[in-house]
Amino acid sequence: MTFTDQYAVFGHPISHSKSPRIQQLFAIQTGQNLEYTAQDVSPEQFSERVKAFFGDGGKGLNCTVPLKELAWQFADQLSERAKLAKAVNTLAVQADGSILGENTDGIGLVNDLTGNHQISLNSKRLLILGAGGASRGIIGPLLACHPASLIIVNRTAGKAETIAGEFAGIGNISSCVYDELPNQQFDLVINATSASLSAELPPLPDGLLAEHGSCYDLAYANQPTAFVKWGHTQQAVHSLDGLGMLVEQAAEAFFIWRGIRPQTADIIALLNNERQ
Ligand code: ATR
Repeated sequence: MTFTDQYAVFGHPISHSKSPRIQQLFAIQTGQNLEYTAQDVSPEQFSERVKAFFGDGGKGLNCTVPLKELAWQFADQLSERAKLAKAVNTLAVQADGSILGENTDGIGLVNDLTGNHQISLNSKRLLILGAGGASRGIIGPLLACHPASLIIVNRTAGKAETIAGEFAGIGNISSCVYDELPNQQFDLVINATSASLSAELPPLPDGLLAEHGSCYDLAYANQPTAFVKWGHTQQAVHSLDGLGMLVEQAAEAFFIWRGIRPQTADIIALLNNERQ
């Protein structure tokens, strides 16, 4: 008797997740036999459901909002990226049965920026809006690309200061509040606030974006987000939402689980076409 390897994404809410579709497309493309489901799991149920999933032979999990920090606490071992991010979006069973926690969000973003859109980060001035979990997940991989500087701007100063302090050893990172944005331009502005989908953007001055600069919203939607629209008003070369990052972080998770790297371009194009 053969069993199909089981994978899942846990989150709350989860019904609109594109991850099952993306992982199934990767499986077909690479000829892998696996099943990947979306499961609604609340923070209170998290530990019990993860133990049951792996106890039943499950091979790997993705964890999304609001479970990434719990997944970080749950994992037996953490990758360097996950240690720094203090958040885990991918759990994988190791050969000895222990559970590895990894965070593929940041590398997914970097792969989308530099690989799919040829947006170089080396020596560039980066600005991240927001200092929550989404921001924390991407900073390590962004700093690994050697930007000239990375500033985190947030409404609440203390949260941005804490994150900047945690990453201070690995790059030129600082923080401020919106009123105190330095009088300089940025080559890349990344929206990591939870404000984009509500169309309620933080106060961003005109002239923030350098000539030839780009904007990236970690969120994605069927319509352009408020931040993507803002990028267009600022003549951004690219004003992108997070669909490419979503597919790229999924590809990294697939690679961790299956040891095969799927091609992402066709799948990003397919999902892009579906929302037009
Ligand atoms: P996530 O896990 O998605 O990052 P989070 O941890 O709740 O969610 O963080 C949300 C981030 O969006 C925070 O940086 C928040 O700013 P504060 O720390 O000052 O609360 C930011 N945010 C949410 N709504 C915002 C708005 N309307 N304007 C500016 N920033 C906003």
